[in-house]
Amino acid sequence: MSRSVLLLPGDGIGPEIVAEAEKVLHKVNEKFSLGLSFESALVGGAAIDAEDTPLPADTLDKARKADAILLGAVGGPKWDSLPMAKRPEKGLLGLRSNLELFANLRPAILYPQLASASSLKPEVVSGLDILIVRELTGGIYFGQPRGVRQLESGERQGYNTYQYTESEIRRIGRVAFEAAQQRGKKLCSVDKANVLEVTVLWREIMEELKSEYPDVELSHMYVDNAAMQLVKAPKQFDVIVTGNMFGDILSDEAAMLTGSIGMLPSASLNSEKQGMYEPCHGSAPDIAGQGVANPLATIISAAMMLRYSLNEDDAAAAIEAAVSKVLDQGLRTADIMSEGGKKVSTREMGEAVLSAL
Ligand code: IPM
Ligand code: MG
Repeated sequence: MSRSVLLLPGDGIGPEIVAEAEKVLHKVNEKFSLGLSFESALVGGAAIDAEDTPLPADTLDKARKADAILLGAVGGPKWDSLPMAKRPEKGLLGLRSNLELFANLRPAILYPQLASASSLKPEVVSGLDILIVRELTGGIYFGQPRGVRQLESGERQGYNTYQYTESEIRRIGRVAFEAAQQRGKKLCSVDKANVLEVTVLWREIMEELKSEYPDVELSHMYVDNAAMQLVKAPKQFDVIVTGNMFGDILSDEAAMLTGSIGMLPSASLNSEKQGMYEPCHGSAPDIAGQGVANPLATIISAAMMLRYSLNEDDAAAAIEAAVSKVLDQGLRTADIMSEGGKKVSTREMGEAVLSAL
């Protein structure tokens, strides 16, 4: 059975880190006889430069046909002044919505080897293992109407719409409850139900679902408190489920608890478990092209892809073990560098993971 993986390197450090993950994928493909075939396509700023659109039809077509997608990152200052509909981010958002990748899984795991890289005290973060389940195709990111309009007073007004249907809430809720069942059986739903009606409904639906998952303990938290609790006592959380925008913000915060956003993968899945996998960090234009970016989040995203979309647990575990091994060896890219570490480039880190495999 041949399965296809679409590689979307994107912009900034995207091509450098995806290149390392690609080598790792080729290696496990051979070693575990996975029968994977690979294709590449343009997205984001790279696609704007070549084809004047952040999501070319050919890319979307290849994405629809692929069994899984590995994406680097999109965006950069070069395209920041373009109108909203033409910006690189629209490529990413278009893939998410066209493929209905509504479930975004963002684990924040502290690698014991990197405990000192966190800005929080080691006792606060040691052993940290949180999963943020972010709704990815709805909420204020996609709500209509949206835009900037001219008021009668002559002033302009910007507006967006924060909305969720019951079915959208229910399907992301189920993903989160099921994830909690597989883990520590605790689910915290984050909302702003003291102010926003849409999240009053969110809370109601989460409560409704509770009876289907009697083994999971459900709690609710307002988003401002959740932001505070994440830095105060992050280990109280197991799985967090929240809407698109709150999830965007809280997942960056959770990532940073672990010391480096350069270590964290993510998966965006639809109801057929087709998925797009990407590192949580962005395109980091400030260090693009210098060969110093950390490829590990992308490599771990490739492992996640093998596990969730391709059912290749052994190959996934082998990659994860190889990553752990290079960290044990003291190899560090600049973002996770600490005393006693050996500083390596993007390519050296990728090569080290290959040899560890
Ligand atoms: C993310 C990013 C994206 C988002 C941007 C690049 C559109 O911040 O994946 O978290 O806001 O979802
Ligand atoms: Mg974000």
